[in-house]
Amino acid sequence: MKKTLFTFIIAVTLGLAVFLTIKSLSEPCLAPGELPGLFIHEPEVPEYDPASFARRRQEIMDQLGPTPLLVSATAANDFYYLTGFDEYQGVAVLLPGDPKPFRMFVTPRNPADAMWTGERHGTEGAMKKFGADTAYVMNDLAEILPRRLSGDEKIFLHSRDTRLREILEGWQRETGQTLTFQEADSLIHEQRVIKDAWEIAQLEQAVAVTGKAHSWIMKTMAPGQREYEVQADIEYIFGKNGMTPGFASIVGSGPNATILHHIRNDRKINDGELLLVDIGAASRGRYTADITRTYPVNGQFTPEQRTIYDLVYQASETGLEKMKPGFKMLDCNHAANRVLVQGLYELGLIPDTTVWWQKRFYIQHRVNHYIGLSVHDVGDYGFDPAQRDEHILTPEIRGRDLEPGMVMTMEPGLYLQKNRLDYLVELFGHLATPEELDAFAKQVRPVYEKYAGIGVRIEDNVLITENGNKVLSGYLPKTSEEIEAAMRR
Ligand code: GLY
Ligand code: MN
Ligand code: MN
Repeated sequence: MKKTLFTFIIAVTLGLAVFLTIKSLSEPCLAPGELPGLFIHEPEVPEYDPASFARRRQEIMDQLGPTPLLVSATAANDFYYLTGFDEYQGVAVLLPGDPKPFRMFVTPRNPADAMWTGERHGTEGAMKKFGADTAYVMNDLAEILPRRLSGDEKIFLHSRDTRLREILEGWQRETGQTLTFQEADSLIHEQRVIKDAWEIAQLEQAVAVTGKAHSWIMKTMAPGQREYEVQADIEYIFGKNGMTPGFASIVGSGPNATILHHIRNDRKINDGELLLVDIGAASRGRYTADITRTYPVNGQFTPEQRTIYDLVYQASETGLEKMKPGFKMLDCNHAANRVLVQGLYELGLIPDTTVWWQKRFYIQHRVNHYIGLSVHDVGDYGFDPAQRDEHILTPEIRGRDLEPGMVMTMEPGLYLQKNRLDYLVELFGHLATPEELDAFAKQVRPVYEKYAGIGVRIEDNVLITENGNKVLSGYLPKTSEEIEAAMRR
């Protein structure tokens, strides 16, 4: 008896020793506070690249002809895009053809401010770091600026306040000069549509860090957590990589996954639910990723969740095939939405696919938008903004040609919000008779109830290349099987 107990203790001790050795060997050596594989210690791309900014200014001057362009810091990202200057006051002046074509007005350095908020760039920094040919202090703007412009009858002016315009109008009144002001927004926005190599590197870095956050929460999320805990894990990883959220993180569990921009993030996450996580780290150069994955909280999709998930996945893959030069902006949207509509028809959720509002009931948004300095980045899509509603489901509205250097999302989604069938009159009363709406509700309700409360979005970030595209987030698990495998612990 004693001998058996002794053998048992030896066996358990040996077993434990072997287990601990294997476990410790499988864990790399970590610094205090470090998590495995989550940090990019050295940024691989510089956060400011003077050559890219200089090239942008030259490109836009080539388009201005002889007309000067004034951009105020109030124009936020557009000002940053042309200067890289990261203070909230300043004016950039571009004078095409002038021997000193790039001038800046900036807030001077000041020891009192330096004490409280740190040293500003000042005129020295504007020239040395940001490449201005000449820099002046803001207070001299009213005196100097008109002199630089005299003789010019037309100027492009981009400002979100009226200060610059008031100064120039005052000067006009005094001197009798006639200036005409032209908007420069669309010129700059058009340039921002095509990303240069440095911008693409910034976006890749932002995608990499966003991917790390997704990878981490795939391993750590658990029933019983609050949505804000998952959000905290995500933003911790952004922060440890020197990045910040490029937009309010969306962490929607259960019914909250059906709210497109759910940002309250305060619900308790339950076993058996989906968790929709739409997040984007913004790089130190300010470019933001925008990546969504939808996870089964306990690591396994239910049959109903999988049906909807796989349908959205198919839509995404089909849409991606049309994100290539040779196709137009909305071709990928129509291809992806066609898959969704067909799938919903086969499930019995859309009785008649020729009826526009029956499709619109399920299809909430276009599947692509530009990303860049803004998550919904600026730039023309090539369709009339008045067609905001129709364009989503009208294949004839195709938008502009896709071009290499565009970076955009592919983000189909289906959101079967509970009780939505009760709001058909409010939603589509202007498009269908009460009888038609009633018949629709009656017919689809039994199937709808089965899927009610399920929300799925899958969002990737895609660079259009010369010959096709590069899915920057394509390395992340995406099929339902890949997601389940990645969540296995
Ligand atoms: N995160 C907002 C969007 O996906 O458009
Ligand atoms: Mn998006
Ligand atoms: Mn998103």
